[in-house]
Amino acid sequence: MLKRIRCEDATMGMFVRGFEGKWLSHPFWKNHFLISSEEKLARVRTGQIAVIIDTSRGLDVAVPQGESAATKQMATKGRFGRADTTRAAELAQRCTGVVKTLFDDCRLGRTIDTAAILLMVDEISGELVHNMPAFLAVTRLKAKDEATYTHSVAVCALMISLAREMGVPPYEVRELGMAGLLHDIGKAIVSDDILHKPTPLTREEWAQIKRHPTFGYEMLSRTPGLPPVALDVCLHHHERLDGTGYPSSLIEADISRAVRMASVCDVYDAMTSIRSYKKGMSPLEAITAMDAVDGHFDRTILFRFMRNIGVYPAGKLVRLGGNRLAITLPPHPNGLGCVFRAFYSTTDTRFTRYEDIILAEHVSCDDAVAAEDPITWFHADWSTIGAAIMAGRRVDCNALFTRNLPPEIATAS
Ligand SMILES: [Fe+2]
Repeated sequence: MLKRIRCEDATMGMFVRGFEGKWLSHPFWKNHFLISSEEKLARVRTGQIAVIIDTSRGLDVAVPQGESAATKQMATKGRFGRADTTRAAELAQRCTGVVKTLFDDCRLGRTIDTAAILLMVDEISGELVHNMPAFLAVTRLKAKDEATYTHSVAVCALMISLAREMGVPPYEVRELGMAGLLHDIGKAIVSDDILHKPTPLTREEWAQIKRHPTFGYEMLSRTPGLPPVALDVCLHHHERLDGTGYPSSLIEADISRAVRMASVCDVYDAMTSIRSYKKGMSPLEAITAMDAVDGHFDRTILFRFMRNIGVYPAGKLVRLGGNRLAITLPPHPNGLGCVFRAFYSTTDTRFTRYEDIILAEHVSCDDAVAAEDPITWFHADWSTIGAAIMAGRRVDCNALFTRNLPPEIATAS
């Protein structure tokens, strides 16, 4: 979608499709480009009138002009604004630069600077405490020649964030952040032509790519002072629980918790990445696709990941607030986040009047949302029951009769 915005409202990650005014007066010779650096951003903002952005290829404005009451409410409830985005983009850009140096060092056979890596992990970790949505948003954007480095920064951030969500002790969170940052270091010795190839890889090129975990493990093995988890994640982050991964086709019990976490973070970032030539999936599309695959990801960890980013596939059975079962609905039209339709009391073991609930952002209470297995609660076909509830029809499990029942709307915090 094309949008006209004031030049001073431009942010990192927007995709520019043109400028208003005489073309000679704007500071670029190209009209179509991703704002991928502070220098480009500064030049866009010096424009005289307005800039046209393409929101299908880059970031939208944080709070649209002519905002509705609902979006104003969203902004006050913790969504990020321009200042957050700018700060996050600056940090992401700096970290991407450090990772590039790290990869260059590996290519030249130099020793990896573990102190610099730790400093960066701590800085990302600190940023995520207050500014996680903005940081994750800016790291979705991958300039073509920096995609591998920005991906490493993004996976580092996702690992730290997921580890905190899972209640991992702080010293382990730091090690998992390092592991995320270094997981693809083996790509340092894969040709850029292969890494950045926009068309399908040949069999030989694919074989080359699949060697990067082993290359990386060998490099990290020669580096003193790295935690063992960084080596484990580097070597195994492409393994899958059903044995279809590589390089060792490991299965279930042979795959550590850290590796299970890394595979979720790695695939999610790869699916949602926005390139100048590729739109990338939305977070909801990526989570829905990952949840639909059997045997690749640890279900418990994937659910914790959903909780952490606040994105759930529609039709998922969850427990809310300890004693209510709910189903996730498709995204709310006002963009207020995930909506849960509560329909069953686990205390009374009976269906209840439907209530639609939007959890306030940053809910971290352990029992706010928990995964539930439909088989535990419903003998009848869950997909039929779930579809009826999502459509607003009351379900009686004994007779499976349905009748229309308008839901109540509530907001919980
Ligand atoms: Fe990888």
